[in-house]
Amino acid sequence: MKVMAFVGSARKDGNTSKIVDAICSGIKKNGHEVETYNLAELDNKGCRACGLCQANKVEYCSINDKMTELLPKIADADCIIVGTPVYMVHVSGYTKNFLDRLFTFFVESNHTTRLLPGKKYITVTCSGAPAEAFKNVTEYLNQIFGDYSQMVNSGNIIAGNLHSKDDILSQQEIFNQAEEIGQKLN
Ligand SMILES: Cc1cc2nc3c(=O)[nH]c(=O)nc-3n(C[C@H](O)[C@H](O)[C@H](O)COP(=O)(O)O)c2cc1C
Repeated sequence: MKVMAFVGSARKDGNTSKIVDAICSGIKKNGHEVETYNLAELDNKGCRACGLCQANKVEYCSINDKMTELLPKIADADCIIVGTPVYMVHVSGYTKNFLDRLFTFFVESNHTTRLLPGKKYITVTCSGAPAEAFKNVTEYLNQIFGDYSQMVNSGNIIAGNLHSKDDILSQQEIFNQAEEIGQKLN
């Protein structure tokens, strides 16, 4: 099983990273491969709305950047993990830029997706506010991956009360949940 994990925090080794790492550690216990990408380091140039992906003029994307290199790997992955902090009441800009680039998988003509259906996905959100405050961010990610992309939900972690980068260390129950989600992935 090939798993790709994407972390959308500007803060290296922050709460989002730590939770995603715990999921990955559970996954690796079953011998699966995981590659983790920090979206802040990807130099994602952002979707230009050129329409070439929808017109089938390019295989994935006309933009010459690292994200375009990752698109075929995403197409080939069995599971995608997306972790994002809540920035200004939504996913971080890095995460949104990443999600926009998945537009290549959408088939506008009949509102379906290519290559993504049937893959598994896991989401992680971290906020300063208590976890209940931003369930809508997880619903949004489920809308993209579950509803639109027809991917299979393998877990949603919603963590809150996180301000300093190590605050999650005092929430052992979240790490247990993360490990368990990772270990159940098959
Ligand atoms: C630019 C920015 C905007 C933020 N906006 C919100 C917000 O709207 N609501 C909230 O609860 N927390 C907000 N936070 C706090 C982060 O969501 C929280 O600290 C999170 O744990 C950061 O994740 P990280 O440790 O992985 O970087 C914001 C933080 C930053 C840096």
